[in-house]
Amino acid sequence: MAFFAKIHRGTPASLAILARHLRGGGLVGVPTETVYGLAGDATSEAACLSIFATKGRPLTDPLIVHIASTRDLPRVAHANPAALKLARAFWPGPLTIILPKTDAIPGAATANLPSVAVRVPSNRLFRRLIRLAGVPLAAPSANPFGYVSPTTAAHVMDHLGSKISHILDGGPSVIGVESTIVDLRDPGRPVLLRPGAVTRSQLQKVLGVEILSKRKPSAAGKAQVAPGQLKRHYSPRTPVVLHSRITRSMVLKAGPEDAWLYITKPRGAPLPNVSWLDAKGDMKRASRRLFAALRELDENGYRRIHVERPKGAGLAEAIADRLARASSR
Ligand code: TXA
Ligand code: MG
Repeated sequence: MAFFAKIHRGTPASLAILARHLRGGGLVGVPTETVYGLAGDATSEAACLSIFATKGRPLTDPLIVHIASTRDLPRVAHANPAALKLARAFWPGPLTIILPKTDAIPGAATANLPSVAVRVPSNRLFRRLIRLAGVPLAAPSANPFGYVSPTTAAHVMDHLGSKISHILDGGPSVIGVESTIVDLRDPGRPVLLRPGAVTRSQLQKVLGVEILSKRKPSAAGKAQVAPGQLKRHYSPRTPVVLHSRITRSMVLKAGPEDAWLYITKPRGAPLPNVSWLDAKGDMKRASRRLFAALRELDENGYRRIHVERPKGAGLAEAIADRLARASSR
C-alpha cells in the first residue's frame, strides 16, 4: 500500500509538528516565494543525503541553505561587506549568495565545495518554520531531478507525494522562478550564476561594480569545479522547442499535435493548441505562470511544446534562461 504526504496549513500546531519532524532529520515540502522547496536540516549530513536521494539528484549538485534572518548568516557562512550590502538590500527575498561555508554546514550539503549558497526567503510561513526548527534548512526545488520546479503544494504532491510524509501549503509561489544566484566568494568580482527576480542591474546598483556572467554550464555528472549549474534542468518530458518568435503560420503548419506557448496573447482567432503566459506580457505574471503552464502542457500528450523566448532584461532574462534549459536535450 502506498502512503502519501499530508498537506498542512500553517497553523501553530502543524508548524510545531513539522519543526519537530525537521529536527529529527525528516524532510518537508515547503512554500517559498520563488518555488516550493524540499527542506531538511542543513547541519545534518543524513538529512542532506536524504534530500538528494528523494529527488534523485546527483551528489555533485549543491543545495541552497535557508536561514530566517541575516543575523543567522555567521552560523552558515563567512560573510564579507559586499554580501552584507546585498543582504540589506534584498533579504528577505529571492536572492541566493555564494560564500565560504562554516563548519556547521556538512560537505554533503555543498557537494564538498568549501562554499555554500545561502538565502533568507520572504515567505513568512517558511521563515516561521525555519525559526521553529532552530536549524538552517537546506532546500532545493521540490521536484524530481531535472523536472520542472513546483510552484504549488499540489505540484509537490504530484511527483514527491509518495516519497515524503509532509508538505506545508503556503499557496502558489508569487514569483514562480528560482532565486537569483550571485557568487560573492570574491567580493570584488561578483558573478551571476542564475538570473532571477533580483535583476543584474539591481545588483549592480547596490554593489557599484560590474556583475560578471557565469562561465559555460558544466555537463551533467561532472563535478562542479567551477560551480555553476547543470545545463539540462527544468525540462518537461515532452520535447521543448525554443523560438525567438512564434508566428501563426508556424502554428498552422505544424498541426494540432504540437502545443505553442507564447509570452503574450497572440492576435487572431483562438486555436486549441495555443496558449500564453500573460495576456498583456506582464513579466511578473508571466514568471508566476511559467512552470505551471509547462506542467499542464506536459500532461496533455502533445508531440512537442514550442515556446517563445522573451526579450529584455530582468525577469525576462530569468524566463528566457529557464526556457533555454527546458529545451536543451
Ligand atoms: O529559489 C530557489 O533558490 C529555490 C527555493 C527552494 O529556495 N531553490 C532552488 O534550489 O532553486 P536548487 O537546488 O534547485 O538550485 C540550487 C542551485 C544548484 O543547482 C547549484 O548550481 C547552485 O544552486 N549552488 C548551490 N550551492 C552552490 C555553491 N556552493 N556554488 C555554486 N553554486 C551553488
Ligand atoms: Mg532545482
